[in-house]
Amino acid sequence: MRIGILTGGGDCAGLNQAIRAAVMRSLDFGNECLGVLEGWRGLIEGKTTSLGLKEVEGIIEKSGTILGTSRTNPYQEEEGAKKVKENIKKLGLEALVAMGGEDTLGVARKLFEEGVKVVGVPKTMDNDLSATDYTFGFDSSVTRALEAASVLIDTGRSHRRVMILEVMGRHAGWVALFTGIASGADWILLPERKPEIEEMIKHIRAVHSRKNYALIVTSEGITLPEQKVGAEDQDKFGHMILKKRKMGETLAKLVEEKTGLEARVLVIGHMQRGGGPSLFDRILATRCGVKAAELVKEGKFGQMVALRGNEIVEVSLKEATAKLKLVDDAWWNFAKVFFK
Ligand code: F6P
Repeated sequence: MRIGILTGGGDCAGLNQAIRAAVMRSLDFGNECLGVLEGWRGLIEGKTTSLGLKEVEGIIEKSGTILGTSRTNPYQEEEGAKKVKENIKKLGLEALVAMGGEDTLGVARKLFEEGVKVVGVPKTMDNDLSATDYTFGFDSSVTRALEAASVLIDTGRSHRRVMILEVMGRHAGWVALFTGIASGADWILLPERKPEIEEMIKHIRAVHSRKNYALIVTSEGITLPEQKVGAEDQDKFGHMILKKRKMGETLAKLVEEKTGLEARVLVIGHMQRGGGPSLFDRILATRCGVKAAELVKEGKFGQMVALRGNEIVEVSLKEATAKLKLVDDAWWNFAKVFFK
């Protein structure tokens, strides 16, 4: 069998490890892999690269994706889906492994419904895919954010400042939540919750007068009261481009105004997507890649690999892309235990 592998959406740690594993496991079945370059754009334009043992050897150390990626949505391009299907035929691909988040896998689901033999592999630093307990990319990204938070605490303590760390995560607060809990942050702001500004300010004042510094971790996706959100800055999947909102900066101004304390902000942005993957992500991504190759071998298309407990299982792409996994009240109440 000839299997096309592609990576779409934002890159994250673990993609190379998943590609490597899918290629290596496919070899056990006598299957051949072909790399599709730059996500769905590669299939629209027919851009591919060879993907054998030689290409995947030595990539276990590296984040990013050797295949390149894009946020191209074939259903938003003229005749995009048609071109994808034509190229699948032309390239002789008998199956497709699509590695991505909700957007890439949403496209995979539609294509499957239209007859394409596709298997999904969930990846995203946002950890917002339901149907899987964790996505690879998340652990490495929070580990990086955690390092930043610890560094901020050192300098914040010296200067008696309120330090604000803005992390990515889009519309889900998992990255902010885990970074905040693990770094001992004094407050966390999540996109899922309306910010309780007065309560936060009162608390930050109290914390600062006790220990001379405070740390706030905010997600890039929060909306402050009275903030106007423009509909203009959206990507091809209709997601707001959040980096333009500068929530950390806005928050720092607000904290300074309301507390009279000095505040500083750090936006770590894409630092969270590169660098060597954590142990957890290397293992999870490797398990996902192997399972994807096995699903192809078994002819189980329209499925996505998922982690449930400690088991790697398959779930339908339909179920996997039905809704986002967001931070619930139980997690928020848990985090609040440490706002002392
Ligand atoms: O979905 C992953 C993610 O890193 C989000 O957390 C973030 O909002 C977005 O991608 C940034 O996208 P880009 O790399 O296109 O700026």
